[in-house]
Amino acid sequence: MARIVVLTGAGISAESGLGTFRDENGLWSQYDLEEVATPQGFRRNPSLVHDFYNARRRNCAEARPNAAHTALARLEAALPGQTLIVTQNVDDLHHRAGSRNVIQMHGALMRARCGACNRVWPAPMHMAPDDPCPACRRAATRPDVVWFGEIPYHMDRIAAELADCRVFAAIGTSGQVWPAAGLVMEARAAGAHCTEINTTQTDVSGDFDAHLLGLASRVVPDWVAWALARADPGAAGG
Ligand code: OAD
Repeated sequence: MARIVVLTGAGISAESGLGTFRDENGLWSQYDLEEVATPQGFRRNPSLVHDFYNARRRNCAEARPNAAHTALARLEAALPGQTLIVTQNVDDLHHRAGSRNVIQMHGALMRARCGACNRVWPAPMHMAPDDPCPACRRAATRPDVVWFGEIPYHMDRIAAELADCRVFAAIGTSGQVWPAAGLVMEARAAGAHCTEINTTQTDVSGDFDAHLLGLASRVVPDWVAWALARADPGAAGG
């Protein structure tokens, strides 16, 4: 089990050029969430939804990990088996920074999934409603992302990891979307020290022991140094 669990949200990728959802000019001020991020919206207009995710996939491919992503990868490398990232982000910047123990609870832009048989495969840059599934050949292809009204991935494993963690941090997330917003309470229940890293206070700030206000690229490397200083490198996770 990992001793350090880090929850990340759109704010960690903001300085890589990927838009957040709820900040000024965020994605949800430009798009109707009901139309592009729900199963009902996809049934109504699959082309519109594919176009939305195709654009985000292009942005993601052009983006590069920033100092916050690389600091977290350094933490994992220094404490093998003791660090887990749980991300709400569908981008692949944690992986490209070198993190390996990553759970993408809201899915991944770079994966496609068949809505009929559930086969998953690497997403092409451009997806369209009539793309056939490579397994069952039906045209029910969707991005492998979790939409509102769907259940996030790997919740059982996340709960088990939090039950055993000693240090928890939430980075760049507004605490407005559940169940992610409630993970800090699970970490608290396990007795973990909980730090919130954000440019501003959030709806769930009161649930944390410590707050580091500032840009993730500046603050996360400092928090990683703190976590490394208090960690026991010999306490291998499993
Ligand atoms: P939000 O857009 O709701 O929140 C982003 C947070 O990042 C805000 O609290 C900002 O203050 C903070 N922030 C912005 N720039 C930052 C920076 N450079 N450094 C540190 N913090 C910064 O994004 P999420 O909380 O990730 O779900 O949103 C959660 C979910 O809602 C997403 O996964 C997505 C969305 O709807 C689905 O699509 C299912």
